[in-house]
Amino acid sequence: MTARRLLLLGPPGAGKGTQAIRLANQLGIPQISTGDMLRAAVAAGSEIGKTAQAHMDAGELVPDHVVIGVAEERLGQSDATDGFILDGFPRTRAQAEALDGLLPKLGCKLECCIALTVDPEELVARLLKRAEIEGRADDNEKAIRTRMAVYEEKTEPLIDHYRAKSILALVDGLGEVDEVAVRITAALG
Ligand code: AP5
Ligand code: MG
Repeated sequence: MTARRLLLLGPPGAGKGTQAIRLANQLGIPQISTGDMLRAAVAAGSEIGKTAQAHMDAGELVPDHVVIGVAEERLGQSDATDGFILDGFPRTRAQAEALDGLLPKLGCKLECCIALTVDPEELVARLLKRAEIEGRADDNEKAIRTRMAVYEEKTEPLIDHYRAKSILALVDGLGEVDEVAVRITAALG
């Protein structure tokens, strides 16, 4: 049976969101993107949004306690009981440990961590192209470089966290969206 409690890990522009939405539609489970939730909070002008905005615009991480609260609340909602695809959470060791503590309380565990790999120049090219289309506040060269450095320092080490749990699948994120989707499906078995 295909895993239904999944995590997509990868640098900015790796295709986490693109692939998470496809998988969510395919499997009939929600995509849980902390980035999307935080952007919605910024747009709504909520307290969380006010705390998050400057960090996000600079390409820095939003503080752990804020993001952990957002993710915990979302994972506790009824549509996530039958599975979920985490996109962009966890991103730090503290967040990964919080998730490790939360999932048993929800009566489930993570079944697969898909880590998408894409070389840095392709990432920058993808995000600058998206900047022209969508105008996301953090899709400028300075913030993109910061996001990539933050990924390497804080998030990439989580690959070993999930390798140690024997649930890691490294997937080449280069190529057409459809090709990457086929590789992910194959990795899920
Ligand atoms: P978040 O929204 O998660 O952004 P990100 O990690 O920087 O990644 P992106 O969403 O830019 O890329 P993606 O991997 O989803 O790729 P996508 O599919 O969009 O986080 C934003 C900010 O929120 C963070 O910097 C931080 O401040 C805060 N935040 C969020 N979560 C947090 C957390 N857990 N802790 C603390 N702070 C947090 O694709 C990118 C582009 O490439 C698109 O235009 C797409 O169409 C295109 N594309 C996708 N696949 C392909 C392909 N195969 N070939 C060509 N183009 C492609
Ligand atoms: Mg995304």
